Amino acid sequence: MSPQSDALVAGASGGIGRALVIALLADPSIHRVFAVSRSSIAPDSLQHHPKLVWLCCDYTEESMLQVVEQVQSYRPTILRVAICHGILHGDKLAPEKRLEDINADSLQAVFAVNAIIPVLWLKVLRKLLNGAEHCKVAVLSARVGSIGDNHLGGWYAYRASKAALNMFLKTASIEYSRRSANVKLISFHPGTTDTPLSKPFQSSVAAHKLFTAEFVATKLIEHMTAAEVDGQLAFIDWDGQTIDW
Ligand SMILES: NC(=O)c1ccc[n+]([C@@H]2O[C@H](COP(=O)([O-])OP(=O)(O)OC[C@H]3O[C@@H](n4cnc5c(N)ncnc54)[C@H](OP(=O)(O)O)[C@@H]3O)[C@@H](O)[C@H]2O)c1
Repeated sequence: MSPQSDALVAGASGGIGRALVIALLADPSIHRVFAVSRSSIAPDSLQHHPKLVWLCCDYTEESMLQVVEQVQSYRPTILRVAICHGILHGDKLAPEKRLEDINADSLQAVFAVNAIIPVLWLKVLRKLLNGAEHCKVAVLSARVGSIGDNHLGGWYAYRASKAALNMFLKTASIEYSRRSANVKLISFHPGTTDTPLSKPFQSSVAAHKLFTAEFVATKLIEHMTAAEVDGQLAFIDWDGQTIDW
Protein backbone atom coordinates (compact mmCIF):
# COMPACT_ATOMS: atom_id res chain seq x y z
CA MET A 1 0.00 0.00 0.00
CA SER A 2 1.00 3.62 -0.45
CA PRO A 3 3.11 5.12 2.40
CA GLN A 4 0.12 7.36 3.22
CA SER A 5 -2.69 4.82 3.62
CA ASP A 6 -5.55 5.83 5.83
CA ALA A 7 -8.51 3.87 7.18
CA LEU A 8 -12.02 4.78 8.25
CA VAL A 9 -14.23 2.82 10.65
CA ALA A 10 -17.91 3.81 10.97
CA GLY A 11 -19.59 2.53 14.11
CA ALA A 12 -16.31 2.61 16.02
CA SER A 13 -17.71 2.11 19.53
CA GLY A 14 -19.24 -1.31 18.87
CA GLY A 15 -17.50 -4.56 19.75
CA ILE A 16 -16.23 -5.28 16.24
CA GLY A 17 -15.82 -1.61 15.27
CA ARG A 18 -13.57 -0.92 18.25
CA ALA A 19 -11.49 -4.07 17.63
CA LEU A 20 -11.01 -2.94 14.01
CA VAL A 21 -9.89 0.53 15.13
CA ILE A 22 -7.35 -1.01 17.51
CA ALA A 23 -6.07 -3.47 14.88
CA LEU A 24 -5.77 -0.75 12.22
CA LEU A 25 -3.95 1.57 14.65
CA ALA A 26 -1.44 -1.23 15.28
CA ASP A 27 -0.91 -1.80 11.54
CA PRO A 28 2.31 -0.05 10.44
CA SER A 29 1.03 0.25 6.86
CA ILE A 30 -1.84 2.48 8.05
CA HIS A 31 -0.93 6.12 8.56
CA ARG A 32 -4.14 7.40 10.19
CA VAL A 33 -7.44 5.91 11.41
CA PHE A 34 -10.64 7.96 11.23
CA ALA A 35 -13.11 6.48 13.73
CA VAL A 36 -16.76 7.59 13.52
CA SER A 37 -19.22 6.98 16.33
CA ARG A 38 -22.31 8.31 18.09
CA SER A 39 -20.05 8.55 21.11
CA SER A 40 -18.33 11.94 21.32
CA ILE A 41 -15.12 10.59 22.86
CA ALA A 42 -12.78 7.74 22.11
CA PRO A 43 -12.35 4.98 24.69
CA ASP A 44 -9.84 5.98 27.44
CA SER A 45 -7.13 3.65 26.19
CA LEU A 46 -7.17 5.25 22.72
CA GLN A 47 -7.80 8.90 23.52
CA HIS A 48 -4.24 10.11 22.99
CA HIS A 49 -3.27 7.77 20.19
CA PRO A 50 -1.31 9.84 17.64
CA LYS A 51 -2.79 8.00 14.61
CA LEU A 52 -6.44 8.29 15.71
CA VAL A 53 -8.94 10.94 14.59
CA TRP A 54 -12.21 10.44 16.51
CA LEU A 55 -15.31 11.95 14.88
CA CYS A 56 -18.79 12.13 16.39
CA CYS A 57 -21.82 11.57 14.14
CA ASP A 58 -25.55 11.11 14.70
CA TYR A 59 -25.84 9.34 11.31
CA THR A 60 -28.26 11.77 9.75
CA GLU A 61 -27.09 12.41 6.20
CA GLU A 62 -26.18 15.97 7.18
CA SER A 63 -24.00 14.75 10.03
CA MET A 64 -22.37 12.14 7.77
CA LEU A 65 -21.55 14.86 5.23
CA GLN A 66 -19.94 16.91 8.01
CA VAL A 67 -17.80 13.88 8.88
CA VAL A 68 -16.74 13.59 5.23
CA GLU A 69 -15.76 17.29 5.23
CA GLN A 70 -13.75 16.85 8.42
CA VAL A 71 -11.98 13.80 6.99
CA GLN A 72 -11.31 15.62 3.70
CA SER A 73 -9.53 18.42 5.56
CA TYR A 74 -6.71 15.91 6.35
CA ARG A 75 -6.24 15.24 2.60
CA PRO A 76 -6.28 11.51 3.28
CA THR A 77 -5.72 8.48 1.05
CA ILE A 78 -8.38 6.17 2.40
CA LEU A 79 -7.68 2.59 1.31
CA ARG A 80 -9.60 0.69 4.01
CA VAL A 81 -13.18 1.32 5.18
CA ALA A 82 -15.26 -0.76 7.60
CA ILE A 83 -18.93 0.04 8.14
CA CYS A 84 -19.97 -1.72 11.31
CA HIS A 85 -23.51 -0.63 12.20
CA GLY A 86 -26.00 -3.21 13.33
CA ILE A 87 -28.81 -3.80 15.81
CA LEU A 88 -30.61 -7.03 16.69
CA HIS A 89 -32.22 -6.25 20.05
CA GLY A 90 -32.75 -3.26 22.33
CA ASP A 91 -34.98 -1.78 25.03
CA LYS A 92 -38.14 -2.14 22.97
CA LEU A 93 -36.75 -4.51 20.39
CA ALA A 94 -36.39 -8.28 20.28
CA PRO A 95 -35.89 -10.58 17.30
CA GLU A 96 -39.27 -11.91 16.21
CA LYS A 97 -40.02 -15.61 16.72
CA ARG A 98 -43.27 -15.59 14.74
CA LEU A 99 -45.43 -13.35 12.56
CA GLU A 100 -47.43 -12.01 15.54
CA ASP A 101 -44.21 -10.44 16.91
CA ILE A 102 -43.75 -8.20 13.86
CA ASN A 103 -44.08 -4.50 14.63
CA ALA A 104 -43.76 -1.61 12.18
CA ASP A 105 -41.74 0.64 14.51
CA SER A 106 -39.22 -2.12 15.19
CA LEU A 107 -38.91 -2.96 11.50
CA GLN A 108 -38.21 0.70 10.72
CA ALA A 109 -35.65 1.04 13.50
CA VAL A 110 -33.78 -2.10 12.43
CA PHE A 111 -33.83 -1.23 8.73
CA ALA A 112 -32.58 2.28 9.50
CA VAL A 113 -29.46 1.04 11.27
CA ASN A 114 -28.74 -2.19 9.38
CA ALA A 115 -29.46 -1.12 5.81
CA ILE A 116 -30.08 2.62 5.39
CA ILE A 117 -27.13 4.05 7.32
CA PRO A 118 -24.60 1.77 5.52
CA VAL A 119 -25.89 2.70 2.04
CA LEU A 120 -25.83 6.39 2.97
CA TRP A 121 -22.14 5.92 3.84
CA LEU A 122 -21.58 4.48 0.35
CA LYS A 123 -23.30 7.55 -1.07
CA VAL A 124 -21.40 10.20 0.92
CA LEU A 125 -17.98 8.49 0.91
CA ARG A 126 -17.73 7.69 -2.83
CA LYS A 127 -15.88 10.84 -3.91
CA LEU A 128 -13.49 10.53 -0.97
CA LEU A 129 -12.57 6.98 -2.02
CA ASN A 130 -12.24 7.74 -5.72
CA GLY A 131 -8.58 7.53 -6.70
CA ALA A 132 -5.82 5.66 -8.45
CA GLU A 133 -5.14 3.23 -5.61
CA HIS A 134 -7.13 0.16 -4.68
CA CYS A 135 -9.55 0.78 -1.83
CA LYS A 136 -11.36 -2.01 0.05
CA VAL A 137 -14.71 -1.27 1.70
CA ALA A 138 -16.19 -3.89 4.03
CA VAL A 139 -19.73 -3.64 5.34
CA LEU A 140 -20.72 -5.84 8.26
CA SER A 141 -23.62 -8.00 7.11
CA ALA A 142 -24.70 -11.42 8.42
CA ARG A 143 -25.21 -14.94 7.10
CA VAL A 144 -28.84 -14.77 8.27
CA GLY A 145 -29.34 -12.16 5.55
CA SER A 146 -28.86 -14.91 2.97
CA ILE A 147 -32.19 -15.89 1.43
CA GLY A 148 -30.79 -19.20 0.17
CA ASP A 149 -29.43 -20.08 3.61
CA ASN A 150 -32.66 -19.34 5.52
CA HIS A 151 -33.73 -22.74 6.85
CA LEU A 152 -34.80 -21.74 10.37
CA GLY A 153 -37.07 -18.70 9.86
CA GLY A 154 -37.64 -16.10 12.59
CA TRP A 155 -35.71 -12.83 13.14
CA TYR A 156 -37.78 -11.11 10.44
CA ALA A 157 -36.41 -7.60 10.85
CA TYR A 158 -32.76 -8.55 11.22
CA ARG A 159 -32.80 -11.07 8.35
CA ALA A 160 -34.72 -8.81 5.99
CA SER A 161 -32.63 -5.73 6.81
CA LYS A 162 -29.41 -7.65 6.10
CA ALA A 163 -30.89 -9.02 2.84
CA ALA A 164 -31.80 -5.42 1.95
CA LEU A 165 -28.27 -4.34 2.89
CA ASN A 166 -26.84 -6.98 0.55
CA MET A 167 -29.04 -5.73 -2.30
CA PHE A 168 -27.95 -2.14 -1.61
CA LEU A 169 -24.34 -3.32 -1.72
CA LYS A 170 -24.82 -5.31 -4.92
CA THR A 171 -26.45 -2.33 -6.63
CA ALA A 172 -23.78 0.05 -5.34
CA SER A 173 -21.01 -2.33 -6.50
CA ILE A 174 -22.33 -2.02 -10.07
CA GLU A 175 -22.32 1.78 -9.85
CA TYR A 176 -18.93 1.91 -8.12
CA SER A 177 -17.47 -0.34 -10.86
CA ARG A 178 -18.46 2.36 -13.37
CA ARG A 179 -17.70 5.50 -11.36
CA SER A 180 -15.06 4.43 -8.80
CA ALA A 181 -13.49 1.29 -10.26
CA ASN A 182 -10.64 1.38 -7.75
CA VAL A 183 -13.05 0.33 -4.96
CA LYS A 184 -13.89 -3.25 -3.95
CA LEU A 185 -17.03 -3.79 -1.84
CA ILE A 186 -17.23 -6.69 0.59
CA SER A 187 -20.30 -7.83 2.50
CA PHE A 188 -18.84 -9.56 5.54
CA HIS A 189 -20.28 -12.10 7.98
CA PRO A 190 -18.10 -12.12 11.09
CA GLY A 191 -19.46 -15.33 12.62
CA THR A 192 -20.98 -15.23 16.09
CA THR A 193 -18.79 -12.77 17.93
CA ASP A 194 -18.70 -11.93 21.62
CA THR A 195 -20.18 -8.41 21.59
CA PRO A 196 -23.28 -6.76 23.11
CA LEU A 197 -25.22 -7.62 19.91
CA SER A 198 -24.89 -11.38 20.40
CA LYS A 199 -24.89 -11.44 24.25
CA PRO A 200 -28.49 -12.66 24.76
CA PHE A 201 -28.02 -15.47 22.21
CA GLN A 202 -24.63 -16.84 23.17
CA SER A 203 -25.82 -19.70 25.40
CA SER A 204 -26.77 -21.78 22.34
CA VAL A 205 -23.37 -21.25 20.69
CA ALA A 206 -20.54 -23.75 21.22
CA ALA A 207 -17.55 -22.07 22.91
CA HIS A 208 -15.24 -22.71 19.94
CA LYS A 209 -17.78 -21.04 17.61
CA LEU A 210 -17.97 -17.82 19.63
CA PHE A 211 -15.23 -15.57 18.32
CA THR A 212 -13.52 -12.66 19.99
CA ALA A 213 -13.89 -9.29 18.27
CA GLU A 214 -10.08 -9.15 18.01
CA PHE A 215 -10.00 -12.43 16.02
CA VAL A 216 -12.75 -11.23 13.68
CA ALA A 217 -11.01 -7.86 13.14
CA THR A 218 -7.76 -9.62 12.21
CA LYS A 219 -9.57 -11.93 9.77
CA LEU A 220 -11.45 -9.06 8.14
CA ILE A 221 -8.29 -7.00 7.64
CA GLU A 222 -6.59 -10.07 6.06
CA HIS A 223 -9.53 -10.60 3.69
CA MET A 224 -9.61 -6.91 2.75
CA THR A 225 -5.91 -7.02 1.91
CA ALA A 226 -6.31 -10.19 -0.19
CA ALA A 227 -9.49 -9.14 -2.02
CA GLU A 228 -9.17 -8.55 -5.76
CA VAL A 229 -10.56 -5.26 -7.09
CA ASP A 230 -12.82 -6.76 -9.77
CA GLY A 231 -15.99 -4.63 -9.73
CA GLN A 232 -17.90 -7.44 -8.00
CA LEU A 233 -19.49 -7.52 -4.56
CA ALA A 234 -18.09 -10.35 -2.42
CA PHE A 235 -20.33 -11.90 0.28
CA ILE A 236 -17.89 -13.80 2.50
CA ASP A 237 -17.60 -15.08 6.04
CA TRP A 238 -14.79 -14.73 8.58
CA ASP A 239 -13.02 -17.71 6.94
CA GLY A 240 -13.14 -16.12 3.48
CA GLN A 241 -15.78 -18.61 2.28
CA THR A 242 -18.39 -17.29 -0.15
CA ILE A 243 -21.97 -17.20 1.22
CA ASP A 244 -25.00 -18.02 -0.92
CA TRP A 245 -27.20 -15.00 -1.66
N1 LIG B 1 -21.72 -10.04 17.03
C1 LIG B 1 -22.17 -10.99 16.21
O1 LIG B 1 -22.28 -12.17 16.59
C2 LIG B 1 -22.51 -10.66 14.80
C3 LIG B 1 -22.90 -11.71 13.94
C4 LIG B 1 -23.22 -11.42 12.62
C5 LIG B 1 -23.16 -10.11 12.16
N2 LIG B 1 -22.79 -9.11 13.03
C6 LIG B 1 -22.77 -7.73 12.51
O2 LIG B 1 -21.55 -7.11 12.86
C7 LIG B 1 -21.74 -5.69 12.98
C8 LIG B 1 -21.11 -5.18 14.26
O3 LIG B 1 -21.84 -5.70 15.35
P1 LIG B 1 -21.21 -5.86 16.82
O4 LIG B 1 -21.27 -7.30 17.10
O5 LIG B 1 -19.92 -5.13 16.91
O6 LIG B 1 -22.35 -5.14 17.66
P2 LIG B 1 -22.29 -4.04 18.82
O7 LIG B 1 -21.11 -4.25 19.69
O8 LIG B 1 -23.64 -4.06 19.43
O9 LIG B 1 -22.05 -2.68 17.98
C9 LIG B 1 -23.15 -2.03 17.41
C10 LIG B 1 -22.72 -1.22 16.22
O10 LIG B 1 -23.86 -0.63 15.61
C11 LIG B 1 -23.80 0.79 15.71
N3 LIG B 1 -25.14 1.23 16.16
C12 LIG B 1 -25.88 0.74 17.19
N4 LIG B 1 -27.05 1.40 17.30
C13 LIG B 1 -27.04 2.33 16.32
C14 LIG B 1 -27.96 3.35 15.93
N5 LIG B 1 -29.11 3.54 16.56
N6 LIG B 1 -27.62 4.11 14.87
C15 LIG B 1 -26.45 3.91 14.22
N7 LIG B 1 -25.54 3.00 14.56
C16 LIG B 1 -25.84 2.21 15.60
C17 LIG B 1 -22.72 1.12 16.69
O11 LIG B 1 -22.07 2.33 16.30
P3 LIG B 1 -21.53 3.49 17.32
O12 LIG B 1 -20.05 3.41 17.30
O13 LIG B 1 -21.98 4.77 16.74
O14 LIG B 1 -22.10 3.19 18.67
C18 LIG B 1 -21.80 -0.08 16.53
O15 LIG B 1 -20.97 0.06 15.39
C19 LIG B 1 -23.26 -5.48 12.85
O16 LIG B 1 -23.56 -5.13 11.52
C20 LIG B 1 -23.83 -6.85 13.14
O17 LIG B 1 -25.11 -7.04 12.54
C21 LIG B 1 -22.46 -9.36 14.33
